[in-house]
Amino acid sequence: MKKNTVISLVVLMIFAACSKKSSTGGGTITPPVIKPDTVLYTMLPFPIGASVNANLMQSNTKYNGVVKKEFNSITAENAMKFGALHPSQFTYNWTDADYLVSFAQANGKRVHGHTLVWYTSLPSWVTSFAGDSAAWENLLKTHIQTVVAHFKGKVVSWDVVNEDFEDTGIPRNSIWRQKLGNDYVARCFQYAYQADSTALLFYNDYGHEYSAAKRTAIINMVTALKNRGIPIHGIGMQFHTTATQSDANISAAINTAAATGLKVHISELDVRLNAAAVPGLVYTPALGELQASRYLYIVKTYNAIPANQRFGITTWNVGDADSWIPGWQGAPDWPLPFDGSYLRKPAYYGIINGVK
Ligand code: G3I
Repeated sequence: MKKNTVISLVVLMIFAACSKKSSTGGGTITPPVIKPDTVLYTMLPFPIGASVNANLMQSNTKYNGVVKKEFNSITAENAMKFGALHPSQFTYNWTDADYLVSFAQANGKRVHGHTLVWYTSLPSWVTSFAGDSAAWENLLKTHIQTVVAHFKGKVVSWDVVNEDFEDTGIPRNSIWRQKLGNDYVARCFQYAYQADSTALLFYNDYGHEYSAAKRTAIINMVTALKNRGIPIHGIGMQFHTTATQSDANISAAINTAAATGLKVHISELDVRLNAAAVPGLVYTPALGELQASRYLYIVKTYNAIPANQRFGITTWNVGDADSWIPGWQGAPDWPLPFDGSYLRKPAYYGIINGVK
C-alpha cells in the first residue's frame, strides 16, 4: 500500500472511532475528535482554574506542565491558609505562596486567594489565644490586612470568609463567631477592602446544590451584606459534588447565586464517583461517561449566566491521584478531569462540550 493511502485509512479509522456515540445512564456524550494540542482554557469563554499543591508544583514536572498548559487561573490548595501563612503570632511564612504567585506571573495565570478566614486549618497559637474581644479583633484584622497587603496587585480576588454555615443553614459556631459575634463576617470584608480596594472579595462555601436550607442562608447573608454596602463582590460555590447529583439541584445552586447579581465562582469543583465509599471500587468507562455528563451540565448551566458574572470555574486539584477525596472518603475515587497519569478523562471533554 502507498504511504498516502495508509495515512488516509488511519485518519478514517480515527474519525470513525471518534464519531461513535456512547450512551450511559448519565446522558449521551459525543467524544470529540481528540486533538493532543487542545488547550482547555482557550476553549472556554470564562477562566478555568485548578487548585494547586505547592510541593507537587515544584517536584512533579507532569503536574506543573498540565497546570501551565491547560489552566489560566490558579488557587493555592493550602499555601494561603491561615496556618500555612501565619504559623505563629509574629511570623509569616510566604515561601510556598510566593512561589505559586511567581509561577502565575511568569506564565500569565490569574491567582485567586484562598482563604483569609476559616473555622479550621488554624494554627494552635490562634485556637489557644487568650485575649479580650479587642485583642481578637486585632488578631483578625492584622492577619487579613497583612496577607492582603502582601499580595496586593498579584492576587486578584480572595475567599474572605470560608464555610461560615452548617448544612442546616445555621451559622457555624466557629471560634471567630464565639469571640467576635455574628457580624464579624462583615468586618472581614471591610478589613480586606481597606488593604486592597481593587481585589474582588468572595464568600465561599459548599452545599448549595444539596442543601436548599444552606443555600438560602448563604444567599440571604450575602444579599444583606451587599444591601448594607459591605464590599462583597462574589459568591464562591465549592461544588464538591457527586456523579448522581440532579440537574435540578445543580441549576438551582448556580441560578440562585447568579440572581444576586454578584460574580459567581465555581471554586472547588470535583465530581465523586464513589460517594457510597465502596471499598475496592474500580474505575470504568461507564463511570467516566457518567462523570463527564455532570461536568458538562455544570459548565453548560454556568455558561448560561451573564458573562460579567462568570468569574470562572476552578477544579480542586489536577489529577485523580492528587485529590483530597479518596483520603477524606476512605475509599477510592476519580473526581477530576485528569487521571493519575495526567491524561485527559471524559470529564475533560465534558467541560469543553459544556460550552458548545
Ligand atoms: O502541613 C502538614 C504537612 O507538613 C505534612 O507534610 C502533611 C503530611 O500529611 O500534612 C500536612 O498538612 C495537611 C495539608 O492538607 C497539606 O497536605 C493537613 O494535615 C490536611 O488537613 C490538609 O488538608 C487540606 C484541607 O483542605 C484542610 O486544610 C486538603 O489538602 C485540602 O484539599 C482541603 O481543601 C478544602 C478547602 O480548603 C475548603 N473547602 C473544602 C476543601 C476540601 O476539604
